[in-house]
Amino acid sequence: MDDKSKKGALRGISYGLYVIGTKVGDDVNAFTGNWVTQISFTPPLVAIAAKKGTTSCDGIRDSGVFSVSVLETGQKDLAFSFFKPVSRVGNKFGEVEFYTQNTGSPILKDALSWFECRVVDVNERGDHVLFVGEVVDAGLHRTGNPMTLKETGLFYGG
Ligand SMILES: Cc1cc2nc3c(=O)[nH]c(=O)nc-3n(C[C@H](O)[C@H](O)[C@H](O)COP(=O)(O)O)c2cc1C
Repeated sequence: MDDKSKKGALRGISYGLYVIGTKVGDDVNAFTGNWVTQISFTPPLVAIAAKKGTTSCDGIRDSGVFSVSVLETGQKDLAFSFFKPVSRVGNKFGEVEFYTQNTGSPILKDALSWFECRVVDVNERGDHVLFVGEVVDAGLHRTGNPMTLKETGLFYGG
């Protein structure tokens, strides 16, 4: 397989951009990610991929829960607040307000909408862990257009 073609073709997948939260012991953590998709209506299932060795990945594996805060178009600052590893920058929430609902995972107050999941399947095959979560609660803060990865000019994939 030609590496350039593989990269180019995989980068043709369109993505949104989300803040994925979880519990880490008694604390919470979150990272910005684009590998998020719905995979079933009944039950409502969502798949996310979390990089092996990150605090968030270990947190999701250990706690069995995660939340997804759907960012609104233009919320670049919010997205960028959660890209860096917590191990390097410390608590990433700073002034960012959040609350918890059913699972204890952090939900960003400023997000467009959110849902939270209990993990029902884990696949460790690649360099990211694939978590399948059943949606157990969801909410809408306001209507608007969700953020896309494209508008940030960044890529994560290929
Ligand atoms: C555009 C972009 C998209 C990203 N998408 C993902 C993703 O879907 N899954 C993931 O595990 N990491 C993704 N990352 C990397 C995480 O944001 C990064 O590993 C983060 O530092 C993990 O946080 P933690 O160490 O506090 O858990 C992405 C990074 C960028 C720049």
